[in-house]
This record gives sequence, structure tokens and C-alpha cells, in this order.
Amino acid sequence: MRVPFLSFEQMNTEISDELKSIFEHFIHSGWYILGERVKEFEKNYSSFTQVPFCCGVANGLDALIIALKALNIEQGDEVIVPSNTYIATWLAVSAVGAIPVPVEPNVETYNINPVLIKERISSRTKAIIPVHLYGQCCEMDAILKIAHAHKLAVIEDNAQAHGATHNGKPAGSFGDINATSFYPGKNLGAFGDAGAVTTNSIKLYERACILRNYGSAVKYYNEIKGMNSRLDELQAGFLNLKLQRLNEWNKQRKSIAVAYQNLLSGVDELILPKIAPGSDSVFHLYVIRTKRRDELQQFLANRGIGTLIHYPIPPHLQKAYTELNYCRGDFPVAEEIADTCLSLPVYPGLTPKEVEYVSQNIKAFF
Ligand SMILES: Cc1ncc(COP(=O)(O)O)c(C=O)c1O
Repeated sequence: MRVPFLSFEQMNTEISDELKSIFEHFIHSGWYILGERVKEFEKNYSSFTQVPFCCGVANGLDALIIALKALNIEQGDEVIVPSNTYIATWLAVSAVGAIPVPVEPNVETYNINPVLIKERISSRTKAIIPVHLYGQCCEMDAILKIAHAHKLAVIEDNAQAHGATHNGKPAGSFGDINATSFYPGKNLGAFGDAGAVTTNSIKLYERACILRNYGSAVKYYNEIKGMNSRLDELQAGFLNLKLQRLNEWNKQRKSIAVAYQNLLSGVDELILPKIAPGSDSVFHLYVIRTKRRDELQQFLANRGIGTLIHYPIPPHLQKAYTELNYCRGDFPVAEEIADTCLSLPVYPGLTPKEVEYVSQNIKAFF
């Protein structure tokens, strides 16, 4: 049996006729950038996230940059970020000239540890970016409490947790302004690059819309130095369709996670995902940990099972961040996760037999 790490086959087959008709309509529409499909998606995604405003942009990195710019975060400011995240979170902070200040994750949930945030706040700190990593919503109540006490803005990085909640409230609805990605492999994925910001503030929404479109609300009148980061009509059309299925697809991911949990619990040397009280995961990734990670990955590959590592090198040890002079040992929890984590296949369409095959082989390895 072969089990790829990720397959779009089942999702795409399910909606293939509708995808074709969206494409057909798109070709003949004569309108390709910032039109009715984008407006419709912004309305649908804001209602899914339970916020009044959503602004579609070109990708998740731009969404973070636009969120930071909307808040006027700039050169010399400090922004608190998780030490354990995809590098995009840090790169966005650097792109506006600010300094990423890493905070270690909770070793059980892999999300930023709210208890450790306070000691990293300085007079230059302007914002906190919690990342809902692997699909699990961060402990937002605790994070918001710290942010309010210190008058800091909060920008959720919700690239990996479309549909997750904390105490019943959706990821992407907590922060002042929040960023997400619809990169194809995400729970809600486009057929190319796409992203969005969500917010409860009309002022931040209007600023984000101007920033994504050359700093202009009225064509050829430029109020600020903006970017070209617009969501395509075609991607918006596809996303509108896929959004209708997202709850069902997330449900499938969750039941796969339950199956792994049942099949793999009790295996010594293996750490399974844990969910913080009040939080919920939509299992963008199902990440296990073991000291014998590399050996296990090879063993599974030899049996036709695809796995990936999210992420092998934490941002503070990447060449791109040599300027910050961090070294190994500075963020030991992030480093331990990077050295031991392994993501198993989890996607709509993965069958119970395949989950069993993966689990049996993991047990056979140990
Ligand atoms: C946590 C996180 N933040 C930001 C991004 C950036 O999104 P994009 O690849 O759409 O720029 C990603 C995805 O790649 C991500 O996983």
C-alpha cells in the first residue's frame, strides 16, 4: 500500500464539476482582479470567522505584512513571535523593519506559551503574533489578557487553523487584525497562492484594503505607499466553493486524528498531540514526536508512507537570521520539537485502512 503525505484527489474529485463551471464563468466574465467573486469570498470568510471584515490578499506572508503595516509597526519596533513557527511569521516582522522577539512554546501543545510572554516585553514591544500551529488554536484568553495589560496589539497568524476555536470562538476573530494563508495545502486551500486579513475594526480593514492595492482607495490616487497584493477573482471563486465544504473536511481530519490517537496510544517513545483545555484543533497537521524521528521516517518511507517535518530548523537557527546572533541552545523547546517532530498523513479522503496501515507500521518500528 502507498500512502502519500498529502493528496487533493478526494477533495478535488468531489467538487470537480463545480470547479470547471467556476473556471468557465471566470474566462467569460472579463473581470479578473478585485471583483464580485472576491467581495463574495470576503463576505463568506468573514462570516465563517465571525468577524465583520475580511480583506482578500495575495498570500499569507503578505497578509501578515499588511496587518503589521495597518497597525503602523515599523523600524525599531519589537514584535513577540513564537520560537516554533514557520519562518513566514518572522519574515513579516522583518519586512516592516521591526525585530522578531521569540517566545518558547508550551512543549505539549507546541503553541506559544502565554506564561513566558511577559518577560520578553520591553518598552519597544508593539505587538504579539500568536500562531495557531498545526491546527490548534492558541490559548487566546491568556494572550489577550497580557496584551491588554501592556497595551500591545495582537495579530493572529491563522494560516494553519481555519475553523479551529478557543472557548468556542473562531481562530482569526481574536486579534486586532489577523492574517491567514490559503496556500493549497492549508485546510482551506486555493489552487495557487491566496491569503486574507480579518478584523473587527473598520479602520484597520479600510487601511488593509488600501495597502493591498498600491495604497489607493480611488484608482490613481495614492494615499500611502502600498503593495500589489490582491486576491485573484479565480482563486476567490474556488475558495468560495471550498469554504462550503470546510466544516465537513475539518470533521474528517478530526476523526483521522482520533483514529491515530486510539491506534498509537500506549506506544512507548512516542509523543502524541495534546490539546490545551478550551482549545480545539482542526489538525492541519498530525505531528508526533520521537527521539528516533529520522530512523522512523526512513522506515515509513521504505513502506510507501509519506511523512514530512514541520519544521526541521527553527527560525532563530536559519541562515536568514544570523544577524540576530542566536545559537543552538537559545530556544531549547523549539529546538527539541524541530529535532523530534514528524507529521503523519492527514487529509480528507485518507481512509481508515490507510490510517491503520500507517499506525501498524509505526508500531512495528518501535
Ligand atoms: C504559520 C504560517 N504563517 C504564514 C504562512 C505564509 O503563508 P503563504 O505561504 O501563503 O505566504 C504559512 C504558510 O506557508 C504558515 O504556515
